[in-house]
Amino acid sequence: METVLGIDLGTSGVKALLVTPAGQVVAAATRDYPLHHPQPGWAEQDPADWWRATSGAIRACLTHAPAARVVGVGISGQMHGAVLLDAQMQVVRPCIIWADQRTQAECDLITARVGVARLIDLVSNPALPGFTAPKLLWVRANEPEVWARVRHVLLPKDWLRFMLTGTLGSEISDAAGTCLLDVVRGQWSAEVLAALDLAPDLLPPVVGAAQVVGRITPEAAASTGLVAGTPVAGGGADNACAAVGAGIVQPGQALVSIGTSGVVLAFAATPAVDRSGPVPRVHTFNHAVPAAWYLMGVTQAAGLSLRWVRDQLGAAAHAGDQATERDAYEALTEEAGTIPAGSEGLLFLPYLQGERTPVLDSAARGGWVGLTARHTRAHLVRAVLEGVAFSLRDCLDVLRATGVAITELRATGGGVRSPLWRQILADVFDQPLVPLATEEGPALGAALLAGVAASVYPSITAACAQVVRPLPAIQPDPATAARYAELYPVYQGLYPALRVTMHGLARYGAA
Ligand code: XUL
Repeated sequence: METVLGIDLGTSGVKALLVTPAGQVVAAATRDYPLHHPQPGWAEQDPADWWRATSGAIRACLTHAPAARVVGVGISGQMHGAVLLDAQMQVVRPCIIWADQRTQAECDLITARVGVARLIDLVSNPALPGFTAPKLLWVRANEPEVWARVRHVLLPKDWLRFMLTGTLGSEISDAAGTCLLDVVRGQWSAEVLAALDLAPDLLPPVVGAAQVVGRITPEAAASTGLVAGTPVAGGGADNACAAVGAGIVQPGQALVSIGTSGVVLAFAATPAVDRSGPVPRVHTFNHAVPAAWYLMGVTQAAGLSLRWVRDQLGAAAHAGDQATERDAYEALTEEAGTIPAGSEGLLFLPYLQGERTPVLDSAARGGWVGLTARHTRAHLVRAVLEGVAFSLRDCLDVLRATGVAITELRATGGGVRSPLWRQILADVFDQPLVPLATEEGPALGAALLAGVAASVYPSITAACAQVVRPLPAIQPDPATAARYAELYPVYQGLYPALRVTMHGLARYGAA
């Protein structure tokens, strides 16, 4: 049986997904790995953990489907992390990942050296603490003996592809999140590299998402059970692959997703940039689709806010027991469903990890505002679901203001599996939301890219047309939408009113 393998290297674990060309899932396996916080605000992972988990997940899929013949492999992954290799191709320090917030000083330095406006002209995005370039400057300034050994810089999933194929490549949709790529031309920006004193040969050549970049080596075959010589595609950034997996590959299409972070992204036929202020409040990144882009707003703590509430206020879930974890979420959202829209005057700001869209402020802080003695735990939870939805509405509004076309909004990710949360989203957006029958996320997108690279499909658009299955739209409820329309400006007033207080408090503890 012919299949393609999609791998999604996430933040909490890796998923391997084996699908037929028609999109039928033949096997799926996940393996978790730890996230380390060596200091407050830091976030690191050990690439060796990724490799162990990935080979285990691939093996589990192949064992489950012994008749599967894998004709192509594609990898999706968490963006922005810096995997640093020495001349012997060994990893020199743990990967500083996207969620790490240590690099504000380096971001300021990049902005000062290149200039705010010039930086946007060159790489279409501002320097943000999560991005790759400031991480390189941080290692150079703080760990000079480590930096002296660095010869290659790879993004997380590009390193995984190197482990599978022995070939170096920087896939374009991921390269877009480094702050070093000329996003308009799809090439490394020589001017930014020179301004930051970074040698251009640190970065591997830019490669396409649906192009064969290497083949499974005999060593990787021995570790994973794949057949040596199997082609491996460039793959894509997790958001680009989520877009492909949801069929967001043409103008007018947009996606809202709630995972750990939340994202609203819209397909863009041109590299449009948010020019509403001096610094764009949404990202402009290259899509996995050739010569296309997407604009994306990010809520740093979307699913993470609900997980935090579950951990702190819910019935304790047994770690690793997925059934119990689901029960804990269901119990909490069931309670929240008994509370009227608007949580009887309670609002929640989801800035538990600082925030990107629309405030771009790593010192932003979260909280409930409006508490009275009448409020219960159920109100607290409902306010969290609503606060995340308001934050995603902020993303949608900034996207719309750029002029990018949004005619259909699809919904995906763990959070939208909750019927309550997705109805709240439809009501807060006052816009129909289209869920998908094919809910495999970035791993499915990666599998489709592998299929295009292996000539199973003629194009990414054709692959999506064959595989992605939209369900009937969830319609907003007019009365609830009207209630939220009243509350949204009140929510939007909270950050400006509290900004100084948040910054004062941030001095006492990093996010
Ligand atoms: C995107 C971003 C996250 C990561 C984590 O800019 O930081 O979505 O890709 O998955």
